[in-house]
Amino acid sequence: MPVLAIDAGTTGVTALVVGEQGDVLARGYREFAQLFPRPGWVEHEPDDIWTATVAACRGALAATEVEPTCVGITDQRETAVVWDRRTLHSPRPAIVWQDRRTTGICDRLRDAGHEARVAELTGLRLDPYFTGTKFAWLAEHEPGTWSRVRNGTLALGTVDSYLIARLTSGATHVSDPTNASRTLLYDLEKGAWSDELCELFDVPRSALPELVPSSGVVGTTDPDAFLGLSLPIAGIAGDQQAALFGQACYSPGMSKCTYGTGSFVLTNTGTTPVRSDAGLLTTVAWDLGDGLVYALEGAIFVTGAAVQWLRDGLGLIDSAAEIEGLARTVPDSGEVVFVPALTGMGAPHWDPHARGAILGITRGTTRAHLARATLEAIAFEVRDVVDVMVDEAGLEVPELSADGGASANDLLLQLQADQLGVPVRRPEVTETTALGAAFLAGLGTGVWGSTEELARTWALDRRFEPTDGARDDGRHVRWRSALPRAGGWTR
Ligand code: G3P
Repeated sequence: MPVLAIDAGTTGVTALVVGEQGDVLARGYREFAQLFPRPGWVEHEPDDIWTATVAACRGALAATEVEPTCVGITDQRETAVVWDRRTLHSPRPAIVWQDRRTTGICDRLRDAGHEARVAELTGLRLDPYFTGTKFAWLAEHEPGTWSRVRNGTLALGTVDSYLIARLTSGATHVSDPTNASRTLLYDLEKGAWSDELCELFDVPRSALPELVPSSGVVGTTDPDAFLGLSLPIAGIAGDQQAALFGQACYSPGMSKCTYGTGSFVLTNTGTTPVRSDAGLLTTVAWDLGDGLVYALEGAIFVTGAAVQWLRDGLGLIDSAAEIEGLARTVPDSGEVVFVPALTGMGAPHWDPHARGAILGITRGTTRAHLARATLEAIAFEVRDVVDVMVDEAGLEVPELSADGGASANDLLLQLQADQLGVPVRRPEVTETTALGAAFLAGLGTGVWGSTEELARTWALDRRFEPTDGARDDGRHVRWRSALPRAGGWTR
């Protein structure tokens, strides 16, 4: 009984057909346009996301004889979408999680003394990253649109709820707690939308989706809208939580890092939300219908995107995969440090005014040193959030499971193990985000009976052991001294 998984990520949509052994039977992928209307702004056309979703699924289904029995959906989180409940078209582009336009709204709410209460209710912070600030911006700057949100013509949601509306031709308007817990509108401990927060961000609660568990049937795809298929939609999760699920991190204390555009470290903390005062986020890991499971998260905005910038911005490499070979031509970065705060800094520093910096350049610096400094920066950024998890939140991180596109880079994972001082393990299937969505849907429809059964499908590809002494060789001290030089740049 195969499962169709849709992973609607930031730059493209992946569709996988997943078999009962957790094996990938077929795959489709379609990119969509990234819109940058002003410096710091990032938008997507919802119609493009939908078109890419259909194309990716068509591609995956054309590559296999088997027919899926249900669908699971995972998505880029925090991105704010508005659409017409009847036509399903959007009156304006989606405001993407990377978009910084709400920095001023966050500063204003902070100055008005709201940050502590917002953090207490949501486990998050006042940062432009989160959906609620983007809705507040729309309410303030696009009153025409907002009046149609208020009168019920337009619906609000994140990408999961938008896609479900599309897949069901408007019949279903739902989201799950993992996505809701990233909006700044969700009460983390009550497990429900918060009237207090909706009022603070000027969001009518009636425009938000109904909340349903992450696993279990919530609707059926409309064959007229979706490739002639009438399939139960049975799994929903934000992409980082889906990756935690796909990595089989089912026990408290298990951690994963997904290396994508950004990198996101999540540790399962069980049924207890663990709070952090040092820059980590408390978030919902999943809800299998029997209560919330929580995670502590370190959200790093720019890691793979820094490699893309070397490729597209500087032309140092022709493809992202080339970076490993280039970085291996030098033994170290030649004391060059790259702070890739290209869209500000996320965890654990949270500085939307920070910008990228390259320090320590000499006449001997080559593109290979810059390539190596970029991989080192990713390893340092991940170390910084894991160190906070261990030192401040008191968690144990005895090993880290790696996944996502850049986890194919052996040098990066070795640098990561060296910086963390603990083993990093890579599974055979590294598309764990989509896998997690498939697992949630299959668990909700009886393809799999339990998380124990799912955990048995996890297979090791390679384990990277830390090199003796590498964690304390001085490189990380140099990195830490570079960080303040990139901070506050646009203030
Ligand atoms: O929080 C943002 C995250 O969900 C985006 O993930 O993989 O689409 O860059 P990705």
